[in-house]
Amino acid sequence: MKIGIIVFSATGHTASVAERIAGALAKEGHATTIERIEVSGDPMGHPESCVLTREPSIGGYDALVFGTSVIAFCANPVMLKYLDRAEGLGEKSVWAFVTHGLPFAWMGGNNATRQIVDHAAKKGGKAIGRATVSWGNKRREEQAEAAIANAVRAFATVAK
Ligand SMILES: Cc1cc2nc3c(=O)[nH]c(=O)nc-3n(C[C@H](O)[C@H](O)[C@H](O)COP(=O)(O)O)c2cc1C
Repeated sequence: MKIGIIVFSATGHTASVAERIAGALAKEGHATTIERIEVSGDPMGHPESCVLTREPSIGGYDALVFGTSVIAFCANPVMLKYLDRAEGLGEKSVWAFVTHGLPFAWMGGNNATRQIVDHAAKKGGKAIGRATVSWGNKRREEQAEAAIANAVRAFATVAK
């Protein structure tokens, strides 16, 4: 499958996990492309006020991964704004992940991934899974590996 991995990452945590997901999916035979959402403004201090300056087109992909950070217990508002404006999601499969700073997924991570798939669903996207990786948890690497495995499994099911 042609999988677009759409990422908004201000400090690089989410982007680093996205690179690993892309590599793992490519090993399974998928054609993966990472596309970064870009903004002007202050993405660390005031992401809600940022203006999107690069909105990757998703029409050419068979399926999508959306990844971003958690801000104030929610998905980064840049990603939600992007999804609300996105065209071409159709009936495509969507897998979502976030990285976050607080140690447990219930401290914003779970809510954030739910928001991403909900916003994608409003555009027709079909959720096939989601994962969280806590940068502040000593088991971060284990969580990253679990997220990658989750994505590989989810897209293997869709590809059949
Ligand atoms: C303004 C701000 C608010 C944040 N709020 C939360 C939060 O509510 N929960 C959490 O777990 N992490 C929170 N974080 C931490 C980020 O989600 C975390 O560092 C994330 O991995 C950053 O991803 P990035 O490097 O891809 O931008 C916050 C960070 C910033 C800058």
